[in-house]
Amino acid sequence: MGSNKRPENMARITTPALAESFITEQLAALREQIGDKKVLLALSGGVDSSVVAALLIKAVGKQLTCVHVNHGLLRKGEPEQVIEVFQGRMDANLVYVDAVDRFLGKLAGIADPEQKRRVIGAEFIRVFEEEARKLDGIEFLAQGTIYPDILESGPVKAHHNVGGLPDDLMFELVEPVKLLFKDEVRVVGRALCLPDSMVDRQPFPGPGLGVRCLGAITRERLEALRESDAILREEFEKNGLEGKVWQYFTVIPDFKSTGVRDGKRSFDWPVIIRAVNTRDAMTATVEDIPFALLQHITARITAEVPGVNRVLYDLTPKPTGTIEWE
Ligand code: XMP
Repeated sequence: MGSNKRPENMARITTPALAESFITEQLAALREQIGDKKVLLALSGGVDSSVVAALLIKAVGKQLTCVHVNHGLLRKGEPEQVIEVFQGRMDANLVYVDAVDRFLGKLAGIADPEQKRRVIGAEFIRVFEEEARKLDGIEFLAQGTIYPDILESGPVKAHHNVGGLPDDLMFELVEPVKLLFKDEVRVVGRALCLPDSMVDRQPFPGPGLGVRCLGAITRERLEALRESDAILREEFEKNGLEGKVWQYFTVIPDFKSTGVRDGKRSFDWPVIIRAVNTRDAMTATVEDIPFALLQHITARITAEVPGVNRVLYDLTPKPTGTIEWE
């Protein structure tokens, strides 16, 4: 519905007042489009789908059903936050799907990064399709498409589309933020009272931790990755780096190295820290993290994360490295 071209005179949404008038307009447009029908949304907990969910909850309340698929590759605390914010605070219809075993089962033994992406993408569609079939009378599918997805100018193309659903599930699309840039979506999210940690969330790839747990994913390494990532995020937040660094995360390779712990020889995983700045993700520079902070994070990760005995800092800009390791 509606044009896919941003009008030349459309003001950039930079202030709470502009966000309020966008929200008022969109609520009317959504009510007009949806009427008394039902709408479905795949809610990842990322900024875009969260803003779409909050708009739809305001516009049509319980006519919206949100489906949150936990594929086991989310960061620590993310599924809990989605449930707390949307079910707890906003009283949304939320279907939480624990698909962790299913995804990890499909991914077992698959080491090729592109094949991992394909398996995760295909399984996501299958899980979403199964949930959609359980619901009666859905006529609309909401998506967090934003303007860069339409322009396809970035390296991450149309990642919001739940493409690949069978023909009989081709609902009419509802895309209320499709003409907005990311910074505008964040301003709207703030005006909708979404938590800062959700609105300011750094980019997170669809395949999630799956492409940061290098090679064939194992539960042990995936948990070490999730815990080390949580420590890194906590320390960056505490030290004022959260809003300064564009993307930061840990990576766990699929080899071990020797170490010593409590006077005994160990043979455990290393963890790699990556922290980069970029404008458009096409090129990136490495953030100059204070050495003392890197040492502190290293001490915490090696003390608190089972199975990890070493921490490395990736000093490689893009090019020659990509931002992700897979
Ligand atoms: P690279 O690693 O190509 O990443 O330098 C550029 C940006 O794209 C994100 N990225 C992805 N996002 N699905 C996504 O939705 C993916 O498969 C994917 N791979 C990379 C990456 O996190 C970075 O922000």
